[in-house]
Amino acid sequence: MHAIGVDIGGTKIAAGVVDEQGTILAQTRRDTSPDDAAGIDRAIADVYTELSASYEVNAIGLAAAGFVSADRSQVLFAPNIAWRDYPLRDNVAALIGPGVTIVVENDANAAGWAEFRFGAARDVDDMLLLTVGTGLGGAIVTNGELVRGAWGVAAEIGHMRVVPGGHYCGCGHEGCWEQYASGSALVRDAQAAAIAQPERAARLLELAGGDAEKIVGPQVTKAAAEGDPLAIDLLAELGRWVGEGAASATALLDPALIVIGGGVAAAGDLLLAPARKAFDEQLSGRGHRPEAEIVTASMGNDAGMVGAADLARL
Ligand code: BGC
Ligand code: NA
Ligand code: ZN
Repeated sequence: MHAIGVDIGGTKIAAGVVDEQGTILAQTRRDTSPDDAAGIDRAIADVYTELSASYEVNAIGLAAAGFVSADRSQVLFAPNIAWRDYPLRDNVAALIGPGVTIVVENDANAAGWAEFRFGAARDVDDMLLLTVGTGLGGAIVTNGELVRGAWGVAAEIGHMRVVPGGHYCGCGHEGCWEQYASGSALVRDAQAAAIAQPERAARLLELAGGDAEKIVGPQVTKAAAEGDPLAIDLLAELGRWVGEGAASATALLDPALIVIGGGVAAAGDLLLAPARKAFDEQLSGRGHRPEAEIVTASMGNDAGMVGAADLARL
């Protein structure tokens, strides 16, 4: 049976009809605002109406960037979207009517599940996925099962403290890993560098039309791919934070594979090479233990949608 997967990001939702092999048969999107939770509900109902006009579906998986309740109905808390004890499943059900199963999943868990079932991690039983985007999300698969924790909110790995007294986080704490290993961190540092050292940031400023505050992540990746030294350094610094944290996570989880997804993963080796180096330097017992390989995700932006649809069928 086909299911619809909806990936709910900060500024847009992407939805697709997905078959049981993880193939996307049709897709659509809507712009949304992170401050308007009711608007997100309506956008979801709207994409459902559009997609279900041409495909018969009996389940919808909603991939949400937040802490999802164990019964897969609520977003308990979200650092970067206005959800607090939010009954997302029931709100959407009220808009679209009966007859279809709706489940809410954490966005990173959905993406990790897609990589495990159909993508980069399909040949292992134990994996860690890190999605490096607006936030830093995690998914843990152990022994072929998604780890959910006692209350559904396991793998909120972006909120492990890595810098006491460090940058403020949307979760209300300071020094969370996502403030150092995310697309938002990359943009913050790129903008700060462009203000402090405009000459060194000449190429980035040019790409951003001369305005430091308009620098976005893909411009950093583009400049780095062209060989721009500042952009290369910015991605290397981000990679270092990813790799060091991955080494700590490995002390806890012992995964066979660490998959890096999210928008920033498009930087490929510009991010991965420094991540692998930092991982090697930080891994405890190195040389006396088998080591996880660090690879990029293979399903790109579709992972959340495909994983949410697949999990909605289970
Ligand atoms: C949220 C997670 C989410 C991640 C990636 C974090 O800030 O706490 O729930 O998975 O961002 O979107
Ligand atoms: Na997660
Ligand atoms: Zn945090």
